Amino acid sequence: MVILLHAFPMDSLLWSAQRRALSAAGYRVVTPDLPGFGGSARIGGPESLDRYADELAHLMDHLTVDRAVVGGLSMGGYVTMAMLRRHPQRVSGIILADTKAAADAPEAARNRLAMAEQVVAAGGQQDVVDGMLVNLLGATSHAQRPELVATVRRWILAQDPLAVAWAQRAMAARPDSLATLAGFAGPALVLRGSEDTLSTIPDVAAMTEALRRGGSEVSEQDIGQVGHLSAVEDPAAVSAALAGWLEELPAAG
Ligand code: MLT
Repeated sequence: MVILLHAFPMDSLLWSAQRRALSAAGYRVVTPDLPGFGGSARIGGPESLDRYADELAHLMDHLTVDRAVVGGLSMGGYVTMAMLRRHPQRVSGIILADTKAAADAPEAARNRLAMAEQVVAAGGQQDVVDGMLVNLLGATSHAQRPELVATVRRWILAQDPLAVAWAQRAMAARPDSLATLAGFAGPALVLRGSEDTLSTIPDVAAMTEALRRGGSEVSEQDIGQVGHLSAVEDPAAVSAALAGWLEELPAAG
């Protein structure tokens, strides 16, 4: 089984194309909505990405799946790393797309907490969506694909502000995950849109270096002319990257 976790602040629609492509290729693919996103039930209590990882482990229990390839884009990648921390025995391989292992610098964490307050006070993402879109989509998409910008805007505005705030607080509290990656010896696919300004080349280099240090066999893929949301900016290229890598893994189906 392959589990693909979506980015912030959106939902499983992010992986629609890959779910279709990989299912058609014969893989069992699950693209859950993280709690509170995509109309799913929120979780309360202390904000931590570990809680999302625990929910994912429950979902795997429910599906009677022992181990899976777990991957995610950006925040989905952070949750993948939380899975390695919390439930390493459930993970047979990882996909890290447009993400990073570093924790937030203090100012970035403060900005997240301020944005959490802002969306709760405003009852929605309308005041922050434009600022987010600038970084989520690449320069090429912004210049040439207004319809895609409009779609992602709609996805962001559709999310529950309380879930958005919860996720921001959880991300602000996340630890550095380089040592976690160095503790994983399974196969890894690391991909990044070449116009991504949020997950940078040094971010990817740090993740691959840590994985290789731990004995992981890492495959790297550059997705051209797309930004942070590579999976929706060039769905076919990302689907092909995933399928090509999965094909090499004997037990991924
Ligand atoms: C995402 O796309 O999930 C976000 O950029 C993650 C983040 O805010 O760090």
